[in-house]
Amino acid sequence: MDVIECIKTRMSIRKFMPDSVPEDIIRSIIDTAKWSPSYKNSQPWEVVVVSGAKKNELSGLLIEMLEKGEKPAPDIPEPVSWPRQVEARIAEHMKKRSEHFGVDINDPEILKRVKIANFRFYGAPHGLFLFQDASLSLWSLFDIGLFAQSLMLAAHAHGIGTVPQAFLIDYSAKIKDFLGIADSKKLVLGISLGYPDINDRANSYRSTRVEIDEIVKYKFIK
Ligand SMILES: Cc1cc2nc3c(=O)[nH]c(=O)nc-3n(C[C@H](O)[C@H](O)[C@H](O)COP(=O)(O)O)c2cc1C
Repeated sequence: MDVIECIKTRMSIRKFMPDSVPEDIIRSIIDTAKWSPSYKNSQPWEVVVVSGAKKNELSGLLIEMLEKGEKPAPDIPEPVSWPRQVEARIAEHMKKRSEHFGVDINDPEILKRVKIANFRFYGAPHGLFLFQDASLSLWSLFDIGLFAQSLMLAAHAHGIGTVPQAFLIDYSAKIKDFLGIADSKKLVLGISLGYPDINDRANSYRSTRVEIDEIVKYKFIK
């Protein structure tokens, strides 16, 4: 698959087959992603892969925190507001998803179910956690975004599905403690990874994008 097809056909996978991905393939995906550009070639990304019983144990801990009503405390704070145009896109996305699945995604009970599915890594056999040193600047967060996209594209090229998950950093301190990661690191993102369950309805929704003219302006000097 060429890179253009890879970018255009990647989508967030929200139901996975239980089969593990061989370790050498996971390594090769990360080894590809490391070729992402970064500020002064600083390569600020750090990755932890969690699988099997350890991943299931972590799921249990996260669900327990949610059931206890623990307030999320992500290392990267949640956005508090959005500019109007961006908010409209999010509302449109939520409406389309709600219509597609026949549920109101804004209903708190549904939201709780969605969070639990996130904490179960959507059934994926592997969870990847991306960290950066807490002393690094916003530029490193930018670099990790590039790394995450490369990683998801490399996985897709292998026929492996992924979904980036902000929900997976809700309880950052708990996750770091569980994984033995120092407090001097920031947990930036979780990514579930595995073979997509293509027949599951969860993977039947394809998100849309705004028209190109909404995001680009050409200035000509004649
Ligand atoms: C930084 C970031 C955080 C996200 N967090 C979540 C999440 O917690 N749970 C989830 O199911 N999807 C999450 N997504 C996936 C987005 O909803 C998805 O990328 C978007 O709707 C576009 O759909 P696509 O990835 O299928 O193209 C996240 C995406 C990004 C880039």
